[in-house]
Amino acid sequence: MVEHSFGGPWTEIKLDAVEYYLQCYTKALKRVKFDLTYIDAFAGTGTRDIEKRVGGLFEGAPIETIKQTLAGSARRAIAVRPPFDHFVFIEKDDLRCSALAEIQPENTAIDIRIIPGEANEVLRKLVGEQPWVRKDNSNSRGVVFLDPYALHVDWETLIALASTRVFDVWYLFPIRDTIRQLAHNFEGIGPKEPMLDRLLGPEWRELYSIAPEEILKRDLFDQPVEPEMRRVVSVRQFEQWLKQRLEKEFKFVSEPLPLLTAPTRQAFSLFLGVSNPSRPAIDLAQKFVRYVNKNFGPEASHRKSGL
Ligand SMILES: C[S@@+](CC[C@H](N)C(=O)[O-])C[C@H]1O[C@@H](n2cnc3c(N)ncnc32)[C@H](O)[C@@H]1O
Repeated sequence: MVEHSFGGPWTEIKLDAVEYYLQCYTKALKRVKFDLTYIDAFAGTGTRDIEKRVGGLFEGAPIETIKQTLAGSARRAIAVRPPFDHFVFIEKDDLRCSALAEIQPENTAIDIRIIPGEANEVLRKLVGEQPWVRKDNSNSRGVVFLDPYALHVDWETLIALASTRVFDVWYLFPIRDTIRQLAHNFEGIGPKEPMLDRLLGPEWRELYSIAPEEILKRDLFDQPVEPEMRRVVSVRQFEQWLKQRLEKEFKFVSEPLPLLTAPTRQAFSLFLGVSNPSRPAIDLAQKFVRYVNKNFGPEASHRKSGL
């Protein structure tokens, strides 16, 4: 048994939201006999271990902390009905991969492929293969879930997924960690530039400019001071900037679902990007995602995560 503890109450909201979408998705697309694949690119072990406090006055039992194992995204996806036709689970960590492999003998009738490796490399290779190189008469469709711990998804990978015209992509974007890397002054970024290029593409530099008051600044000897480039966006504006960047690649991008790790602390933005250009596909995705954002959005987050 490989233990995998991560996240918090917001993790269940995220998994509920994506699972809800998967349910709507297979229900609608199976009616039209599409061949459906689910790809979990940061699959973990298939389960999530948590510690939970139980008991207390109202339960009439002593307070204690118990361990619980919950289904992670891979196991939740397998349980969706009607089912996907194919599953691809990608995981970099060998131990977690071996835990994932336990899913196969439990589900022998299902086509499950477990690929050990780095998610960006594997995904970019996969989407270049059949059936993802879409032909107009292809009936392959799929959902990709990008659920990294940290800043692990490359912009190039998103471009590759968007170019398939086949995949709907759920992307858990770590907005809080990213904003921390985007220093207030451009000078402060230093060696993080290549990492930000990989994560956001080179366009992130648009987030910096010279404030008007900087241009007029003078030193003690009344000499002009080299003006500083400052980050000119708030977290909210950055989130909208990112949405617009994604819209340049995907045919539709949802309003992000904010995931809070404390009442006023948004750690993640969960986006859906639809690569399929067909109007019915976009209409369907928009309809489903409206429900997702309504049921799992900030008001519901507070309630369901118990924050
Ligand atoms: C947040 S966990 C995923 C949890 C999973 N979605 C679930 O609900 O059970 C992130 C996983 O991604 C794996 N990982 C991290 N970086 C990776 C990479 N570059 N490529 C593939 N897997 C990676 C970690 O080992 C970890 O198991």
